[in-house]
Amino acid sequence: MRDREGRPLVVGTGIAGLYVALRCRELGLHPTLITKARLEEANTRYAQGGIAAAIGADDSPSRHLRDTLRAGAGLVDRAAAKALTSEAPARIADLVRYGVPFDTIEGQIALGREAAHSRARILHAGGDATGLSIEETLKRRVLDAGIEVRERTALRALEPSGRGGVVAIVSSDRGRSFEKWETYAVVLATGGAGSLYRQSSNPSVATGEGTAIAFRAGALLTDMEFIQFHPTVFWREGAPRYLITEAVRGEGAVLRNEAGERFLVGQHRDAELAPRDIVARAVEREIERTGHPCVYLDATGIPRDRFFARFPSVCRFLATYGLDPSRDWIPVTPVAHYMMGGVTTDLEGRTSLRGVYACGEVAATGVHGANRLASNSLLEGLVFGERVARQLVHPVPGRVPTPGRLVRFRWPPGSGRADLPKAFERVQDILWEDVGIVRTGKGLRTALRELGELGRKTEPPSGGAPPGPVANAVLTAALIARSALTRTESRGAHYRSDFPHRRPEWRLHVGIVRAGPPARGF
Ligand code: SIN
Repeated sequence: MRDREGRPLVVGTGIAGLYVALRCRELGLHPTLITKARLEEANTRYAQGGIAAAIGADDSPSRHLRDTLRAGAGLVDRAAAKALTSEAPARIADLVRYGVPFDTIEGQIALGREAAHSRARILHAGGDATGLSIEETLKRRVLDAGIEVRERTALRALEPSGRGGVVAIVSSDRGRSFEKWETYAVVLATGGAGSLYRQSSNPSVATGEGTAIAFRAGALLTDMEFIQFHPTVFWREGAPRYLITEAVRGEGAVLRNEAGERFLVGQHRDAELAPRDIVARAVEREIERTGHPCVYLDATGIPRDRFFARFPSVCRFLATYGLDPSRDWIPVTPVAHYMMGGVTTDLEGRTSLRGVYACGEVAATGVHGANRLASNSLLEGLVFGERVARQLVHPVPGRVPTPGRLVRFRWPPGSGRADLPKAFERVQDILWEDVGIVRTGKGLRTALRELGELGRKTEPPSGGAPPGPVANAVLTAALIARSALTRTESRGAHYRSDFPHRRPEWRLHVGIVRAGPPARGF
């Protein structure tokens, strides 16, 4: 056992993890930052559109709050969203102080428009390389600050220490050897789970491991059924799924079917700028109705120079497929993009496990409700990262909210004998086919049965080594499916064709916790 009592352990190196580590250091702590991959490999790196903040002359945090509440389909936690939107300008000032080179026009930060935002409030850097710019800037700052960083070091399990702290079991040798680190605080900033879906905008590291590890330790999770699908990801047989940022629609691009019709007109008053869940479902329906494998983003109305300056990475990518957006329509399809739920936290990032905090995509702060407003995700990592860092220095008491409906979920040990790559691929197919954009009770039950069978092979026997990445992937997938089965209505990103309407009695959060005795010692 390594005693790291005074050093918080931060897990994950996207915007939330890097920012928490930096702020902890500035507040006088000595955090250790670990990542299962390389320091810069996180979902943040791939974020194109930008980061939302009400800094424009015609904007205000209360307007940003209103848009966030409206997009979230009745489930946004108002206090969390108020913190998010009112603290946004100060967190942007932090990024500027760290040196993030936001794009400017005549000396002022340039602001773009995205769906369901009533004002232009999206800051961007390098045109459409916002995530990359932020990730690289924060990474440099972390290294300059001398923060201890361990790459290829994965969190495997969390246990209570018996002395009021936490024991983190970490593996640094591809799961062959384990170390136990004792600390007073572990911060989960492990990101989302988009890669558990066959079609996804996420990098391969986004497998929802943080949620599985927290669940196994006895943490409460909420809103796991709310997976956001992004409507416009490049489609071509055999090509990688490359995000075509929503900001392209914000600049005036429209969606057309193969026949050239703007199918969103008449479906929603904001047409292509309707909330993301509505656009994603409309695209999915159009693909099904026409039998054509994609729809098209028509950006030919945007002046060529302007498009190339604003979206240089998108243009470079399209050029490799011989496409010029000023002339050609861009073939697109919806894919899994973002996990709105996760490990339940209060406004200070505290989870239901003492000494364990969460922020960024892995956390369920309630800030997104049933459907996240575009470009609120990078912001969430900063705002709640700051709150966690302060909490680690000056703890104030609090407790996580109680969900309106609680599912106790049993996930037994297994044989530990599975063809792991095959099992992972099966998870991706199951989620895509039966826990995707349109769900049914029948499909969700099938998914759960199949995931249960996989779990019996991927879970290690009790008393064995901590579960590995594939066992965690199967479990997180099952938690999504089980939560989706529980919610017998349609709301935000969760759409069930057998319950196609929103139902007032479901204006509550679904929590899920492991069955059996409560987590002792935490
Ligand atoms: C995008 O650029 O379209 C994605 C931004 C987001 O998911 O918030």
